[in-house]
Amino acid sequence: MKLETLLIHTGAEVDPATGAVAPPIHLSTTFEHGPDCQLHDGHVYIRESNPTQSRLEEALAASEGGEAALLFASGLAACSAYLQSLPSGSHMLHPDDVYHGVREMAQDFMPRWGQAATEVDMADLDAVRAALRPETRLIWAETPSNPLLKVVDLSALAEIAHAHDALLAVDNTFATPILQRPLDLGADVVVHSATKYMGGHSDVQGGALVLKEREPSYDDLTHIRGVLGGVASPFNAWLVLRGLRSLACRVERHAANALAIARALDGHPAVETVHYPGLEEHPGHAIARRQMRAFGGMLSLAVRGGREQAVAIASRVKLFTNATSLGGVESLIEHRASSEGPASTTPENLLRVSVGLEHSEDLIADLLQALDG
Ligand SMILES: Cc1ncc(COP(=O)(O)O)c(C=O)c1O
Repeated sequence: MKLETLLIHTGAEVDPATGAVAPPIHLSTTFEHGPDCQLHDGHVYIRESNPTQSRLEEALAASEGGEAALLFASGLAACSAYLQSLPSGSHMLHPDDVYHGVREMAQDFMPRWGQAATEVDMADLDAVRAALRPETRLIWAETPSNPLLKVVDLSALAEIAHAHDALLAVDNTFATPILQRPLDLGADVVVHSATKYMGGHSDVQGGALVLKEREPSYDDLTHIRGVLGGVASPFNAWLVLRGLRSLACRVERHAANALAIARALDGHPAVETVHYPGLEEHPGHAIARRQMRAFGGMLSLAVRGGREQAVAIASRVKLFTNATSLGGVESLIEHRASSEGPASTTPENLLRVSVGLEHSEDLIADLLQALDG
């Protein structure tokens, strides 16, 4: 079955108890035991599992072609659970451009867990090989990356990781499973902030891990989630399940709009560089063409005039909203270094743009008037 069809039907079967066509939300925190302590449907207590979450996890696994998926309270809760499943003493490589929360986790928390991390330019595969240590257990990739839209070759990274007896994890938040399928390219686990395109309406937080193979880590990850408690509410699970059902249509439009904007702004005198993998001059364009179906709804603009100009442009938009986050129906723009805070490594002249589902001509007109001042 094609992905578009799977996403509408998986986990969304008609409710056998009532015949309801739209999936129900079960808010119950606890589930009845039978006379011999047997369970109705395998659920005991909400923090361990619940029916709404199970429906979504089935859909999440299908979306990436994995054997199993786990839902978390946020994208970062999913990341931290995965890192905590690695043995103490493990070393991880992560990209030099990566979601800043992952960099902070690597710097501030992995050492507390007895782990270490090194940042490397993953476009340079020799640099990746050179950065491996005997204790490297994980390569963490993010492509296209947040916020510079760098692209890395997932098949090549999978080969490098596996030759070293390490695993490849891919944060697929920007691309979504509609445009890129890391497990098919050799990755072992996919990570999502479901807060973004999966939810799709800027009104729900969630995170997911999708495992290529259930063994050996599914039970351990379930244990970590159940005991450390980074669990999503059933209502959030339901909103993400609802979002997944329209993901394919939305992402196609996001990507078409972003490509139109990237082309319209490329060469504008106020813009030094448009970072968008769909542009032929983008350094990762050839790889993106190979491993993505389209180039996604995110782009960033390095503008002339430094921080001052970037902040001024973001304040002049009328249709876009000057706000962080991404993947919603409405278009957003932000001065990225300000959103990331004092530890940011993002250039001060960078504006990150989440292209929404409005008409591309209206979006381009708004950005042009903001750039022209
Ligand atoms: C690429 C990427 N990964 C992970 C996260 C973290 O997700 P959350 O905010 O749901 O914890 C984000 C958030 O912006 C992100 O952009």
